[in-house]
Amino acid sequence: MAVSLIKVIMVLVLPSLVAGHLCLIHPRQRGDMDISRAGSDTCFRHGAPCGGQNASIGSYILLFGGEQTFIKWQQNFNHYTVGYPGYMDIAIAEYGSDSWQLLAFNRDEYVHAQDHQQNYTAIVVLPNKACDHCVIRARYVSHKPGEQPFYQCSDVAVQQTVSALPRVIETNHQPKHEEFRNAMKKMQTLHSKHDTPTFPEKNPPAFLLGFSYSPFDPNSVYLVNTTMDGQVIPLGQFDFGHGMSVQDRCMKTRNMVPNTTYPFLLDSVMTVETSSNDLIGFLHEGNTDNPSPTFLHFDIHQASILFKSAIGEFDGHAFSGIVYNENDGHFYTFSVQRNESKGFNFVVGQLHIEKNMLPYIYSELIRTEPEPLYVNYQWMTMDQKGNRLFVLMGNENTPDQLKARIYIFDLNYVWKFLKMVELDVSEYTFMSIHYYEKTGMLYAMSPGKWNGRLWTLVEINPLTGDVVEHIDVADMEYFKPHYGGSIFNAINQETGDFYHVLTLQDTNANIIVIVNIDGYSITYSEITNLSHVHNLVLIKNNF
Ligand SMILES: *[C@@H]1O[C@H](CO)[C@@H](O)[C@H](O)[C@H]1NC(C)=O
Ligand SMILES: *[C@@H]1O[C@H](CO)[C@@H](O)[C@H](O)[C@H]1NC(C)=O
Ligand SMILES: *[C@@H]1O[C@H](CO)[C@@H](O)[C@H](O)[C@H]1NC(C)=O
Ligand SMILES: *[C@@H]1O[C@H](CO)[C@@H](O)[C@H](O)[C@H]1NC(C)=O
Ligand SMILES: *[C@@H]1O[C@H](CO)[C@@H](O)[C@H](O)[C@H]1NC(C)=O
Ligand SMILES: *[C@@H]1O[C@H](CO)[C@@H](O)[C@H](O)[C@H]1NC(C)=O
Repeated sequence: MAVSLIKVIMVLVLPSLVAGHLCLIHPRQRGDMDISRAGSDTCFRHGAPCGGQNASIGSYILLFGGEQTFIKWQQNFNHYTVGYPGYMDIAIAEYGSDSWQLLAFNRDEYVHAQDHQQNYTAIVVLPNKACDHCVIRARYVSHKPGEQPFYQCSDVAVQQTVSALPRVIETNHQPKHEEFRNAMKKMQTLHSKHDTPTFPEKNPPAFLLGFSYSPFDPNSVYLVNTTMDGQVIPLGQFDFGHGMSVQDRCMKTRNMVPNTTYPFLLDSVMTVETSSNDLIGFLHEGNTDNPSPTFLHFDIHQASILFKSAIGEFDGHAFSGIVYNENDGHFYTFSVQRNESKGFNFVVGQLHIEKNMLPYIYSELIRTEPEPLYVNYQWMTMDQKGNRLFVLMGNENTPDQLKARIYIFDLNYVWKFLKMVELDVSEYTFMSIHYYEKTGMLYAMSPGKWNGRLWTLVEINPLTGDVVEHIDVADMEYFKPHYGGSIFNAINQETGDFYHVLTLQDTNANIIVIVNIDGYSITYSEITNLSHVHNLVLIKNNF
């Protein structure tokens, strides 16, 4: 009996068998291509370098060296990995050679449901070198534990051109007037319906810090203060990249070696050490596929790094999340680790200092039994009073229903996994959860189901899994049903203010919304643009 059960689970744990992931549309990929639906097997090809497809016979697609060339591909199924997002890249090599030159690079995006089709385009200048048979390779490396990279290739011939200079790739800086006008009109309506602070605010109870990153300046990130009057104020600059900047940086320097060691700040893993009000993140050096984190403590008053620390006894598994525990002054980490065919173990770890001496030492505290289905890490939040950790995990095999569970871990005396609670996602879906001490409940911003009508602040009972509407925030005509706006420590525990970033329907501009959990009031910021600001954290203003 037990054996057959494991077999059933093993079949379920391999959704990849029915799901497709990346197709190369232009120049057209080898073999069949059907992008009419998500999960097409023609977009599901594993195995370097070409997903097991042999080269085409006969004529190849003609391209010109030294000239702008249009590349288009489709992500046919999304495997965004919170805390360690993957990437897609395009490269070229002579047929039979393994020396791939990087042409384009895109970070993975956080979308609502995995069965999501999104086209990407890039305009690249091909090396101006004749090539009778070259291969353009598209790759999707998702970093999802247990998921291998996806590959597609197309066979091309490159003709050398006589143009002296490669043309510069221009980005389009034209303002989108029509879209912008619509957005402003809607914002005026929203502001007239709700509280509007007078800008600039002299002394707000809290503010949002984040890290601003530009792929056009991949060598540095700025610590920024994003204020309610719509400004993004740089506080300090750091000489490392962000997220997957390793590859962006290789492109910029024309050093086409994707494995060169360049440090970058890890995306989506950040916390506040509330005793000092400072920010904690991780710097990774070296190969993006092989994490080697360094603990970073930012002094936000000086906008500088107070110290860096190696991680002693690191077990080699990327951290998906980190929180600071006010009770013992240690940090708690969460990682998802493959356990052969059985699924994944969830591991709660601790980072602590011994005898006031760096480095931070990692120790494993709790390891769950292998889980085959609820393996998509979403968010972690801490109940400081009860010394409990809540982790939101999504079900890998329900890309539309977004089934989810909360795992509760007890950090008192005897570290243990307490229980797992299935959430009611029949009406509301969400990607992050935040514990509020006053009510003992979790809160989340929800666009309902996909194509819902309303953005709602929902209350989640962590013991029963019940999810109920708490406050209706805005009609969907204003904001996109988009999951990227979560903020670390999003609730100000003193005032009950919940912070979230929404994206306008008509343009990709953003609005910070503050919903008061107790008073039911809603406050909108001015229009701002936070699409380049990552790792947003709420900081209490006790300067
Ligand atoms: C590729 O070619 C090899 C040998 O020529 C053949 O065995 C294999 O079946 C081919 N693969 C595909 C996908 O056509
Ligand atoms: C992607 O582009 C193709 C044409 O190249 C188009 O037929 C398809 O509708 C597009 N899909 C999406 C999701 O935009
Ligand atoms: C961020 O801006 C707010 C004003 O909105 C200000 O009160 C706060 O001190 C600023 N924080 C830092 C670290 O500069
Ligand atoms: C890294 O790049 C160098 C070339 O600069 C190459 O010799 C080496 O094999 C590469 N290492 C890996 C792990 O790909
Ligand atoms: C895999 O899970 C089994 C329990 O089913 C456990 O005994 C074993 O330690 C786990 N392996 C790892 C590497 O965690
Ligand atoms: C926001 O900034 C990004 C680049 O950081 C840019 O691509 C986008 O067009 C901007 N959006 C608006 C509405 O200004």
